[in-house]
Amino acid sequence: MIPDILEIIKTELTKGTTVEGHPFRLCAMATVGINHTARIRTVVLRDVDENLNLTFYTDKRTKKITHIRENKNVSLLFYHPGIRTQLRIEGFAMIEENESVIQDLWSKIHKDAQKDYTSAEAPGTKIGDPDFITHLEDEHYFTVIRVLSQKIDYFELKPKKHVRAAFSFEDGYKWNGTFLVP
Ligand SMILES: Cc1cc2nc3c(=O)[nH]c(=O)nc-3n(C[C@H](O)[C@H](O)[C@H](O)COP(=O)(O)O)c2cc1C
Repeated sequence: MIPDILEIIKTELTKGTTVEGHPFRLCAMATVGINHTARIRTVVLRDVDENLNLTFYTDKRTKKITHIRENKNVSLLFYHPGIRTQLRIEGFAMIEENESVIQDLWSKIHKDAQKDYTSAEAPGTKIGDPDFITHLEDEHYFTVIRVLSQKIDYFELKPKKHVRAAFSFEDGYKWNGTFLVP
């Protein structure tokens, strides 16, 4: 049943943010780069809301932020080897603008992990030695990406009969789905 598949998607994505070692903790995020090239990288899923909108953290100087400001279309790829299930999610990415929300999330990040967002030079800058990166003391470049999920393609690889389903988020509040030929 289609509602059961949607429930699996919600449950497994939520586990990605709460259960240590869950494969949906990580996904590949694709943005549209300059010259319309696809640009892809691994990111950590931080939060999932009831509409399956997703939250990610990053340094505001990264290329993905530049891409999203130019083109809000993003795609995400999740794979769970235990249940041989792939999720492909398409959505619109927004950069969180509420500074107090950003500061609140920042204050909850462990001191060691905060260093991911405080390098003196921007991510992607050429350096001579990875052991000598300077970090800012009182400044950071932490920011939050929200992906408003619009479409989900679900594919479960089974020995005899694969299961594929497509969902779209409609009227701003509901997911409609259908099974597809795998
Ligand atoms: C396991 C793993 C998890 C990562 N998680 C994040 C993340 O949550 N946010 C992030 O911005 N980069 C993360 N990165 C680094 C990105 O994959 C990427 O290299 C970096 O953000 C620069 O990407 P960009 O220049 O294309 O924006 C992670 C890398 C690995 C290997």
